[in-house]
Amino acid sequence: MSFNNNSTLQGVAVAGATVSTILALLTMKYNDRPLFYEHPEGIPYKKGYPILGNLASLLGNIGRMHEYQAGLFTEIDALTYTSAVIGNPTTIFTIDPQNIDHVLRGNFKNYLKGPKFISALQELLGNGIFNANGEIWRYQRKAASHIFNVKNFRDEFTNVFVKEMRVMCDKILDKAADEGGIVDFHEIMFKFTLDSFVLLGFGVQLDSLLKKEKVPFAESFDHLQRLGAKRLINPLMPLSESVKRYFVPWKMSTKDHLKCVDSFAEDVISERRKQVTNNEPYPKDLLSRFMDTLNEKGEKLNDVELRDTVLNFIIAGRDTTAQALSWLFYELALQPRVEKKILEELEGKISNDDENDSPALYEIINGLPYLHAVFYETLRLYPSVPANLKFALEDDVFPDGSIIKAGYYVMWSPYTQGRSTKIWGEKAKEFYPERWIDEEGGLRREAASKWTAFHAGPRVCLGQNLATLEALVCIAMLLKRYTFKLVPGQDVTYDFSLTLPMRDGMKVYVEKR
Ligand code: HEM
Repeated sequence: MSFNNNSTLQGVAVAGATVSTILALLTMKYNDRPLFYEHPEGIPYKKGYPILGNLASLLGNIGRMHEYQAGLFTEIDALTYTSAVIGNPTTIFTIDPQNIDHVLRGNFKNYLKGPKFISALQELLGNGIFNANGEIWRYQRKAASHIFNVKNFRDEFTNVFVKEMRVMCDKILDKAADEGGIVDFHEIMFKFTLDSFVLLGFGVQLDSLLKKEKVPFAESFDHLQRLGAKRLINPLMPLSESVKRYFVPWKMSTKDHLKCVDSFAEDVISERRKQVTNNEPYPKDLLSRFMDTLNEKGEKLNDVELRDTVLNFIIAGRDTTAQALSWLFYELALQPRVEKKILEELEGKISNDDENDSPALYEIINGLPYLHAVFYETLRLYPSVPANLKFALEDDVFPDGSIIKAGYYVMWSPYTQGRSTKIWGEKAKEFYPERWIDEEGGLRREAASKWTAFHAGPRVCLGQNLATLEALVCIAMLLKRYTFKLVPGQDVTYDFSLTLPMRDGMKVYVEKR
């Protein structure tokens, strides 16, 4: 062997030893977290592994993400903690009502939809209200707020809900009851809220309730939401998405799904543009309000901005309420006691004539505290937005003393809050609507920071009253007519997404009362 070869080998050996020593030293220093990651000061944390941090346990628990997060709060025994995952930014998890109030209201200006949220959902949501900050958010919020007023609720929306409920009862449930068949309650609720919302928001009679199969638009919509949620928490998604294209080329790609939802929105918009051009009558609804609105630059909205509006509002108006209704009927099936109490409250209150009289029905629904309590209790245990995320613009200190640095993400979990005995007492995990009833039998209001189902502060849900009205009309009309029994042997559980859908739906037998 020549002198030169020997010295090269020696050089390689020395370099290898140096790298190994440095890696060993780094691994010793960062023995519970990714390299160069520093645990946020003074905040309890979940210990992980060197280099990966808590990646493996996060990925292993995606299917049961909300239980996993709830478990970590219990394990660490704190209302605020942090957990490092390689590839993910520093994230502080909290269920402390005072911290959440601070993020959503007290220091609202400092907590934005951050770059991670915006990029994970950009393809689907564009610059729509859910994905926007600052002036782009403000003009949309203002435009939409004109639609959600008492007059519209009383005179227009109640009618739409009753109309679509009649389709559901006459065309699906009566038939299922007569034939002793099984229906997927979850799927029917999604069709009901979709048909109702596109009718009252965009003047489109979609009639998905009349179709046996799921509408392709809805399939693509659900797929894109699940994808967005995974991108938010899983740092390996870019890799997994690019590999998938080659391994399952027969499956619809993200592009195909996007084309499908885009073409739905384009049809809605072009139909309305045609009506306007031809001087045909059209409703003064959410779409026409946005078509008359000026954006943050003082210009009329173009078709891309209108597309974003349509899709953002469908997410808002369809999924959340359909899921809440599904979980509510799931709990009723488990707790006949609660169903009996609702029926007692409804006894003799809603005649067939009342169902045909929108303002009268609106007033009756408003006077049903126990029914409201059941709806709120459902959202306490099954919040339609089970976890949420904001980005800190500048350094800040939480009310509990946690130091939040600019660039940190703050994640809070309405799902875990609802099940935490520290927040809701010993009976936290129990479905117990009575907790919402006060001594006089009226409805008890809880602080929005403790019951975060509808968010809080300047970005509080715009559709809270709409959703409550829609859900209560639906429950009252269904319970007046039918009993539902769970088909045995199914595992009713959630799917991981931005919202809280049922993973495999909920199959029920329907009987007429
Ligand atoms: C049970 C039903 C519902 C629940 C639990 C719910 C919950 C929420 C939550 C948690 C947010 C905050 C989301 C975020 O971080 O950006 C939100 C926002 C919003 N919701 Fe709802 N929602 C429901 C139904 C509806 C309905 C029927 C509409 C009607 C269109 C609606 C319209 C909106 C809008 C426009 C926003 C965005 C507000 C903003 O960013 O300024 N929601 N909702």
